[in-house]
Amino acid sequence: MWHVSLCIAATIMVSFTHWVYRWRNPRCNGNLPPGSMGWPLLGETLHFFAPNPTWDTPPFLKHRIKRYGSVFRTSLVGRPVIVSTDSDLNYMIFQQEGQLFQSWYPDSFTEVFGRQNVGSLHGYMYKYLKNMVLYLFGPESLKKMLHEVESVAATALEKWAGQESVELKEATANMIFDLTAKKLISYDPEKSSENLRESFVDFIKGLISFPLDIPGTAYHKCLQGRKKAMKMLKNMLEDRRANPRKVKTDFFDYVLEELDRGDSILTEAIALDLMFVLLFASFETTSLAITVAVKLLRDNPRALQELTEEHENILRNRENKESGLTWKEYKSMAFTFQLINETVRLANIVPGVFRKALKDVKFKGYTIPAGWAVMVCPPAVHLNPVNYKDPLEFNPWRWERMDQKGASKNFMAFGGGMRFCVGTDFTKVQMAVFLHCLVTKYRWQTVRGGEIVRTPGLQFPNGFHVKITERQTESKSNTRI
Ligand code: HEM
Repeated sequence: MWHVSLCIAATIMVSFTHWVYRWRNPRCNGNLPPGSMGWPLLGETLHFFAPNPTWDTPPFLKHRIKRYGSVFRTSLVGRPVIVSTDSDLNYMIFQQEGQLFQSWYPDSFTEVFGRQNVGSLHGYMYKYLKNMVLYLFGPESLKKMLHEVESVAATALEKWAGQESVELKEATANMIFDLTAKKLISYDPEKSSENLRESFVDFIKGLISFPLDIPGTAYHKCLQGRKKAMKMLKNMLEDRRANPRKVKTDFFDYVLEELDRGDSILTEAIALDLMFVLLFASFETTSLAITVAVKLLRDNPRALQELTEEHENILRNRENKESGLTWKEYKSMAFTFQLINETVRLANIVPGVFRKALKDVKFKGYTIPAGWAVMVCPPAVHLNPVNYKDPLEFNPWRWERMDQKGASKNFMAFGGGMRFCVGTDFTKVQMAVFLHCLVTKYRWQTVRGGEIVRTPGLQFPNGFHVKITERQTESKSNTRI
């Protein structure tokens, strides 16, 4: 009897040792990029999520780039991953979407953004959704939206200027959320019995956290927040179906029309997942970018002065003093666009863009095995002194001679290739118009907070509390800020 037990124990030992060996030395038809797979199952996940309180490249990347070079292997949340901090490989990954690589996100992400979210769809369905989003957030829609964006920013600033202090990240997130939710689903927080925004708060708190779904964890709260928000969106869509409107104006109208057509490829589940992603992406990313811009401007008086001059000139040269911002004026904001690019370069709001290799891919003597996940790391490119001189310095002027539209090998804050962010123009309009309203009428002082931490998503753990003062009031009381 005892030798049967011994045999079983030996088999388990051998299998386990073999499994650990395979874990550490994955199969590859070529030369796998160097790196470490870390602990079995856990991999190097804990290092990846370790908080980093600086603007600089995360230590997780820095240490490995130094040791292994710009392309290395690791294991994150149970998956083998090739990490790319190499501008050429990143470019190739973006350009080869659908050929050598395909958009792919870890299960924990798909769980929170929905299995049918736009990032997980491919081919015809993906193109269909992308066109739908471009219709909503493309230049033609934005031109029509410009006055509303200005009026929303002006009203918000006027309200905040009457307060002792305002937490800018949360306040701008609320401002943008209300505008986007109004545009997409005609949601009015004043009139609605359900607080849609609140369910997104829980969602965001756990979004970039360790994906452990047990009560009490941030990730669990995140999933609960998503469930709540999705239920509300579904109720709202059903409500609209029961009470259709004569004049069709928003995204819900559009979706219902498509669903009723019968031959449409759109399903209710896909439409709701898209709605969720758009609401989230629109306010969370842009509010972070605005907060970072205001913080950096506060620390860089020369940039603030040039920005203020650009916007005062717009007002000075305006023929009809009563009119609001025009599209032509918006397009003329050259320094503002430089400043926006510099802000998103430093902010690195998206710390990693994921893909999956569809075939074995050869790159600089290495092989990326088919089926492996690949993580493109924009921070490593944006903060590399080879690409940007003094990369930690906030220097909007560096963009004077650089391409500021689209993506390039060295600029991928909004991704690149076919999956280039569809919200880029929307973000730029929001940021530029907000800054216009801010610098032409107000000044601000930091009250407290403003420290950042990346886990690896960017956060302001203590918020960024500022006191906003109207410029006339300021000169009357002779306050110098
Ligand atoms: C500072 C603001 C923003 C940043 C830094 C940002 C960044 C990015 C990045 C890096 C990607 C590429 C993801 C990939 O290739 O897998 C992306 C895609 C996307 N973004 Fe944004 N984004 C911002 C604002 C927005 C806004 C305002 C919206 C919504 C209106 C939006 C909606 C989307 C969508 C739907 C995709 C998926 C596109 C696709 O898979 O083709 N983003 N964004």
